[in-house]
Amino acid sequence: MAHNGIELTKEDITTLAVEGIVNAANNSLLGGGGVDGAIHRAAGPELLAECQKLGGCPTGEARITKGYKLPATWVIHTVGPVWHGGTQGEPELLAHCYRNCFYLVREYSIMSIAFPAISTGVYGYPKDEAARIAVREARRYLAENENPAAILFVCFNDATRLAYQHALTTS
Ligand code: APR
Repeated sequence: MAHNGIELTKEDITTLAVEGIVNAANNSLLGGGGVDGAIHRAAGPELLAECQKLGGCPTGEARITKGYKLPATWVIHTVGPVWHGGTQGEPELLAHCYRNCFYLVREYSIMSIAFPAISTGVYGYPKDEAARIAVREARRYLAENENPAAILFVCFNDATRLAYQHALTTS
């Protein structure tokens, strides 16, 4: 369903015909499990080859590469915080992931962008709190930009979908 420029989907992010997809990567940018593994599998080995030249990515920052065999033209790799209980700057770092991804969306004039639920899988970030940050940052981006990209949040499981629906309707 659409919520003023924000849409939820449950599709595999590697299948989405959008201009850019965001990867929930790790600091090495050399691939991993979860959505990172799925994106590298679908994009093919050229993605890893380009990532190897980037020299990693600090938590909270984002790097952009081509999408290669993916339908998406671009992959924006961002490294979310590992959840340690919320006392080690996790909320600010997660917010920075979204802001830095939106910065690259603007820089590269990307008109449709899909995000996974960054940090809420292997990195253990509580889904409700993470969804609230994602929706807040998306709304800030939409408010600040004349001609913003369409935003898709991929809710790959029911718990994530409920968290995003709640974030969209209560905040
Ligand atoms: N499409 C969309 N979403 C997906 C897909 C997919 N193909 N596969 C998994 N997801 C969802 C998960 O269900 C979860 O909701 O992406 C969300 C993020 O989970 P993770 O992929 O585990 O990412 P994260 O929690 O940020 O952990 C990052 O995991 O894969 C490694 O290399 C990665 O070390 C890094 C860590």
